[in-house]
Amino acid sequence: MIDLKMPETLHVDAFQMRIADIVDVDLGQLHALSMAVGWPHRAEDWQCLRELGHGVVALDEIGRVMGSAMWFPHGESFATLGMLITSPRLQTNGTAKWLMQRVLAGCPGTRFRLNATRAARRLYRSLDFVAQRTVFQCQGRAHTPERTDDLADGHALRPLHAGDLDAVIAFDTPGFAVPRPLHLIRLFEDSLCYGLFRGEELRAYSMSRAFGRGHVLGPIAAFSVDDAIAVARPHVDAHIGRFLRIDTHIESGPFSSFIQQCGLPVFDTVTTMTLGEGVDYGQAGEESAALFALASQSIG
Ligand SMILES: CC(C)(COP(=O)(O)OP(=O)(O)OC[C@H]1O[C@@H](n2cnc3c(N)ncnc32)[C@H](O)[C@@H]1OP(=O)(O)O)[C@@H](O)C(=O)NCCC(=O)NCCS
Repeated sequence: MIDLKMPETLHVDAFQMRIADIVDVDLGQLHALSMAVGWPHRAEDWQCLRELGHGVVALDEIGRVMGSAMWFPHGESFATLGMLITSPRLQTNGTAKWLMQRVLAGCPGTRFRLNATRAARRLYRSLDFVAQRTVFQCQGRAHTPERTDDLADGHALRPLHAGDLDAVIAFDTPGFAVPRPLHLIRLFEDSLCYGLFRGEELRAYSMSRAFGRGHVLGPIAAFSVDDAIAVARPHVDAHIGRFLRIDTHIESGPFSSFIQQCGLPVFDTVTTMTLGEGVDYGQAGEESAALFALASQSIG
């Protein structure tokens, strides 16, 4: 995957950096890198990301990890990007740009999507990424949400099992923009999952799993806000009094109010950016569900 035409080394300040494959470095070093920039990832979260995607790291002369960048391919021509980190000691010296250029050059013909922190937005803009929408990172100690109406007539909520996965993958595709079977199958292994059904038809699904400081609620896809709330509610109930996080594009309205009522205020925002056409998240329509929560900022 690495493009050999790109410079193999980079002088940064007093350091000489070289590129290596992320699978060849110690998980503890990756964990230390993300902790150095205040990110909550556990070593297990890094391991899951390495199983789902590819990555490069910048190593100094004695093999310390000073930077990272990952990409998560979905088919031949689309990938999400994430885990771009530079050690605070080296920031604003061109390391992140060098890593990103390596990744982009290694994936010719690929369209990309990512969720950019404020610190990284200018860098992505300089690489021709276009801002699409805001992601609200909501988190806190979960409260019991106000009870609202019961499920609509004919609807049933139940835990998902492996036999539901094909339906979940198809249902998720319009909201995510492309099918992501590998990610959903891997997330399913680690997650508590619910589906809302009308008869045999899937109307909404949700997953939650251990991540960072507690649990993350996502992905969630649904035809309607009410359905999204119905599949989110059992996860909140399961984490009352504990740390819960949700990353959502939904800024206002009943879903956003529900999240706030659950004790999960907006903690930060990031910006979804794309490079190439047709890879932004989809909108809900008659025939297609929308994403109400991301699996994570890194994998989308
Ligand atoms: C965002 C981050 C990866 C940038 O790393 P970096 O090695 O400092 O970036 P570079 O030195 O390659 O800078 C690339 C460009 O961004 C600019 N830039 C970098 N940091 C900046 C800052 N804090 N404010 C404004 N511009 C900044 C640089 O000037 C450069 O612009 P140019 O190409 O026009 O000269 C780094 O700050 C970081 O790890 N932050 C914490 C984690 C994070 O937010 N990651 C991004 C995830 S989307």
